[in-house]
Amino acid sequence: MDKTSDFSAMSAEERRSYIAQTAGLSQKQQSLLCQEGGLSLEAADSMIDNVIGTYSLPIGVVRGLVVNGKEYLVPMVCEEPWVVSCAEKGAELAARCGGFHATYTGSIMISQIQLTKISNPRTACLKVLEHKQEILELANQADPILVSLGGGAFDVEAKPLDTEVGGMVIVQLLVDTKDAMGANAVNTMAEKAAPLLSKITGGKSYLRILSNLAVHRLARVGVSVSCDVLGGEEVVDGILTAHAFAYHDPFRACTSNKGTMNGASPVACATGNDIRALEAGAHAYASRSGVYRPLTYWERSVSGDLEGMIELPMAVGIVGGTTKTHPMAGLLLSIMKVTSAAELGMVIAATGLAENLWTLRTLATGGLQAEFVPSLERRLEQ
Ligand code: MEV
Repeated sequence: MDKTSDFSAMSAEERRSYIAQTAGLSQKQQSLLCQEGGLSLEAADSMIDNVIGTYSLPIGVVRGLVVNGKEYLVPMVCEEPWVVSCAEKGAELAARCGGFHATYTGSIMISQIQLTKISNPRTACLKVLEHKQEILELANQADPILVSLGGGAFDVEAKPLDTEVGGMVIVQLLVDTKDAMGANAVNTMAEKAAPLLSKITGGKSYLRILSNLAVHRLARVGVSVSCDVLGGEEVVDGILTAHAFAYHDPFRACTSNKGTMNGASPVACATGNDIRALEAGAHAYASRSGVYRPLTYWERSVSGDLEGMIELPMAVGIVGGTTKTHPMAGLLLSIMKVTSAAELGMVIAATGLAENLWTLRTLATGGLQAEFVPSLERRLEQ
């Protein structure tokens, strides 16, 4: 069966065997895919507290998402009817024009230690920076495995905060978490370094926790879609007009970003990543200028084509956490054939951009209800 066959017209079983064949799944992986939910009660019980059962959602697959010249099968776990279809159609438009091009700034997480009751926060910051090497060495003792893999804490920042409850110093450890999302590693490092920081500053250490605003862990994706492939100048105008609305109105920006995250979060969910962390980081990043803006940016090139881009904090991993404890997450990662957290992050961001591209195209032309409701009704009638 080739890629041009009508995937959506197949039965779920036919789609499963198509994916099994295309991704080269083993017999064991195929039978896991057939186990609805793919999570035993025993495994679920090891993941969170007070377990009483499991909860299944559909897994859809986007075919033909091209990022940096590589074509991906992208699994999405989601309940909303048109999400997978929008991503696939956006991906197809992009693929016809060379696909998405992406970069990643590295798996750098920020771990924060709050030091309170400090009367001279600026002098205390200076003292912290004078002890940088000592602090890093201590923090890295918390995760020798990460250090042996070439990761770990590599820099220290300190900033004063004057607050209504007194002066504080916020120390930030910058930690390279490699292929892990790294929440546990960076939280442990903060706890390990806190007593030394109290000693250096004379302050009382309080919160010791990561920041989900992962500004040093960005995926950047761009795409250029020709005016002809998009459907003509009017469609380009429509998308740019929709984008201008979102750029200048936070009420619309919020909805546009919800649509973009309709692409990104289901892939993060499918691969066992923390979607709440991803969403929190994305929306905080959308406000970084002081005004809440869209996560994507669209403009017209000199040749009249549509250029789009997205920049998204991307704290996701392919090792540890749920990627390890949920067997389906491991399987879906292997269907994607990503080999690093960086690669996964770029694919997730590209899926977000693809989703936003097709959603805006649809909203700016016929409208979402007109495009998708008839096929949804047909599906419900069957
Ligand atoms: C619905 O889940 C998402 C949209 O509202 C996004 C948008 O308006 O751009 C369709």
